[in-house]
Amino acid sequence: MSSRKFFVGGNWKMNGNKKEIDAIIDFLTVGPIDSNTELVCGVPSCYLEYARQKLPASIGVAAQNCYKVAKGAFTGEISPAMIKDIGCSWVILGHSERRNVFGESDLLIGEKVAHALNEGLNVIPCIGEKLEEREAGKTEEVVFAQLKAIVEKIPEGKWDSVVIAYEPVWAIGTGKTASPQQAQEVHGKLRQWLAENVSPDVAQKTRIIYGGSVTAENCRELAKEADIDGSLVGGASLKPDFVHIVNATQ
Ligand code: 13P
Repeated sequence: MSSRKFFVGGNWKMNGNKKEIDAIIDFLTVGPIDSNTELVCGVPSCYLEYARQKLPASIGVAAQNCYKVAKGAFTGEISPAMIKDIGCSWVILGHSERRNVFGESDLLIGEKVAHALNEGLNVIPCIGEKLEEREAGKTEEVVFAQLKAIVEKIPEGKWDSVVIAYEPVWAIGTGKTASPQQAQEVHGKLRQWLAENVSPDVAQKTRIIYGGSVTAENCRELAKEADIDGSLVGGASLKPDFVHIVNATQ
């Protein structure tokens, strides 16, 4: 097993209300959560402070998006400074839903990553190919281009604050998980790309997590792969079974 700490993110997306969030907080508090796993919940922005106040301090809270500057006339946006101000220390950026539903470009995502890191947040940048790209044999080309746009913007000395999420778009919310072998193949190539284009040290220490229809049933097999350092979980993070996914290495 690698020396990288296992990392699980629960991405709640645009789900939940106070009552439902209370139920999630309850099952996470009861756990028990393996102390060898770093756990972070991605919470809708209007509930960030609520979740932060109620979740155990050992569980991180992430915004699901933020803008690329600290403040100003950007109606509807929130900044890393605001996320930090309410006690949260993480942000998910470049999720495929931001890319594909809201039209975010590689450039914008890179700029957001740079600003969030410079403001002292930890960042989970997301990359992943669409089904037609995979079928056309373009998986590597697509994920390397997405990764390059992010890596170029990561400031010196900030790599410890980055957890990369590989989420093939065809596996998100579809029930079609990448097989452990399919996921490992891409994770291994991403790590090799980091070794060649950033440094062997960054490649060795940076966690690369898998997202896309991760469940309590498939999480253990995925976690066994050498370059899969955890998961980013959507639908299954809203249910008590999520605790099994968090504890997938036990
Ligand atoms: P699902 O686990 O619902 O497939 O979502 C994955 C995801 O997009 C996590 O960010």
